[in-house]
Amino acid sequence: MKIIKAKDYEDMSRKAANIISAQVILKPDCVLGLATGSTPIGAYKQLAAWYEKGDVDFAEVSTYNLDEYRGLSHDDPQSYHYFMRENFFDHINIDLNNTHVPDGSNPDAAAACSEYDKIVAAAGYPDLQLLGIGNNGHIGFNEPDDHFSKGTHCVDLTESTIQANSRLFDSIDDVPRQAYTMGTQTIMYARMILVVANGEAKAQAVYDMCYGPVTPACPASILQLHTNCVVVADEAALSLCE
Ligand code: F6R
Repeated sequence: MKIIKAKDYEDMSRKAANIISAQVILKPDCVLGLATGSTPIGAYKQLAAWYEKGDVDFAEVSTYNLDEYRGLSHDDPQSYHYFMRENFFDHINIDLNNTHVPDGSNPDAAAACSEYDKIVAAAGYPDLQLLGIGNNGHIGFNEPDDHFSKGTHCVDLTESTIQANSRLFDSIDDVPRQAYTMGTQTIMYARMILVVANGEAKAQAVYDMCYGPVTPACPASILQLHTNCVVVADEAALSLCE
């Protein structure tokens, strides 16, 4: 695991965007695994700004997102389909047909998940997978458990995740209780993994991910076994790591 310390959120975002744009420049038709949440928004903004300047071109890129809430339509403003368009895809020249997010609107969880596994496998898995990390060490929506997950599956969100994500909803009761998420094994198939983290609330999870035992109790800890994993985190998120 390579750890890159950033001064603050802005610096973290620029450093992460640099790594993603290097991937796109080196392989214009690369496959990117993408994440939602607050953490990557700054990196998406930076990439969009570099696209505007003509420094990076997404015309041939394809993307596969980690997860989606179960039961939300693609146009629901709380859905990750919507989030990705609003925060990234609508600001770059990506072909929307080449962007993929698990189909939360399909109530048939088994069908939605196995369909997603098929298309991620057919794409050859991501060249670069961008990840945020939950306060409880989750990656994607792979919550702490007694085993690591494999392919895309339906999960019950933990109270801690429902609580953390409620900041984006009118009320905690509106937070969906289930999501479809890429599995840990699928995440590990990516040829490079880039984790972004900022803020003190992530400090324990970042410490456990980098230096704790490899255990499904902290799903991100498995990234210690990936041969090409880079963590870009600000000083506050790395505060327990010195
Ligand atoms: C989002 C995702 C989650 C988030 C994590 C951190 O697609 O898979 O694992 O990365 O919950 O979220 P933020 O960045 O909002 O703190």
